[in-house]
Amino acid sequence: MGKLAITGGTPVIERSLGKPWPVYDEREEQALREVLHSGKWWRGGYPEAKDSKVGQFEDAFARFQDAKFGVAVTNGTQALECALKAAGVEAGDEVIVPALTFVATATAAALVNGIPIFVDVDPETYNMDPDAFEAAITDQTRAVMPVHNGGYPADLDRITEVARKHDIMVIEDAAHAHGTQWKGTGVGAIGHLGGFSLQMGKTLTCGEGGIVLTNNEELAEKAYSFHHIGRISGRPFYEFHRVASNLRMTEWQGAIALAQLSRLEEQTETRERNARHLAEGLKQIPGVDPIDRSPNVTRWGFYYWNFHYRKDAFEGLPRDKFLEAVRAEGAPIGVGAHGAPIYKNPLFQSMNFGRTGCPIKCPLHRGEVDYSSVSCPVAERVHAEQALSISHAVFLGGTADMDLILEAIQKVRDNVDELK
Ligand SMILES: Cc1ncc(COP(=O)(O)O)c(C=O)c1O
Repeated sequence: MGKLAITGGTPVIERSLGKPWPVYDEREEQALREVLHSGKWWRGGYPEAKDSKVGQFEDAFARFQDAKFGVAVTNGTQALECALKAAGVEAGDEVIVPALTFVATATAAALVNGIPIFVDVDPETYNMDPDAFEAAITDQTRAVMPVHNGGYPADLDRITEVARKHDIMVIEDAAHAHGTQWKGTGVGAIGHLGGFSLQMGKTLTCGEGGIVLTNNEELAEKAYSFHHIGRISGRPFYEFHRVASNLRMTEWQGAIALAQLSRLEEQTETRERNARHLAEGLKQIPGVDPIDRSPNVTRWGFYYWNFHYRKDAFEGLPRDKFLEAVRAEGAPIGVGAHGAPIYKNPLFQSMNFGRTGCPIKCPLHRGEVDYSSVSCPVAERVHAEQALSISHAVFLGGTADMDLILEAIQKVRDNVDELK
């Protein structure tokens, strides 16, 4: 029997850390009761959108992220689709996406008939590498979708600068980044448009939901129209102007999202406080490095907190072996939410785009796209060897929880010989 839990020893952590997610109380109950008794369960029941729960949520969340306009929708995937449509992405247009993200970043582009083009990531932040973005631009590039992986913002200065130079629309995939600020401004509308997810795991949730943000009135009008079956505000209700779906959020979702938003600022502060404590502790343990946080990241509203594993400092122990051992100690550490670089999915490797091959084999697109030959070596290495992450809910407790995680990691390091 060894000292490590995985070799038969006693685990460091024998209780759950942080808080169960989602957090809720009588605010949500009251808000749901109000919707029930109003008899108006959809936003269209209100002559003035701002009187609805959904309308109030749109305004409040847009304000929270420093955006002028918000359009609430059914989920984060459709928020991205709606934003891409508002940005004018059409058949044959290339949309540049990072390799390390959730599949919806790329499939949203394909769902509006665009062609996702994968680029590699920065090994420090796991976000789109701005140089790789610039190198991938062609005369068919219409949009770029930087993802704020885990909520840590992509380099919005570089990306917006390159995009401006090439007249490319920037749609931020901010599905993980509620509360995140870049140089003091909320992300999500620093580019032309942004999309957030409100799915249940996210730091702002109503079970399923999403929201599009923008500072541009014309883009806001288009997003509104694309989420509302092609209607235009101020025009007759049964007059339609665009091919568009119904992406409207219900009043139930609006009520919950609004109640959840009332806690977000305080929760973000608690998470940041604990994350700072954890980062300081990790710096004392060689081989587990926090992200070298840029001073431009003035608030990191994270969905999961990414950090790095360096096997050289653990006598060559592979990351996955380290993970097994540290989890056996009770430390809730993972590898980031979404697995391998997304072009590795069967969808892309088998070019599974149906009978016609559209939208990837679009006659309006010049050139061949073959995803089975895509290679993003940094994303592949980060995924296979380097990425570590901890879910946001773990950071909702006290610093004692962080100390337990540090103790578990230190124990694995001190007894790494047992794992050989
Ligand atoms: C980066 C990213 N983009 C988009 C989405 C899609 O959001 P939803 O699940 O709400 O459709 C997710 C969901 O986790 C995501 O992680």
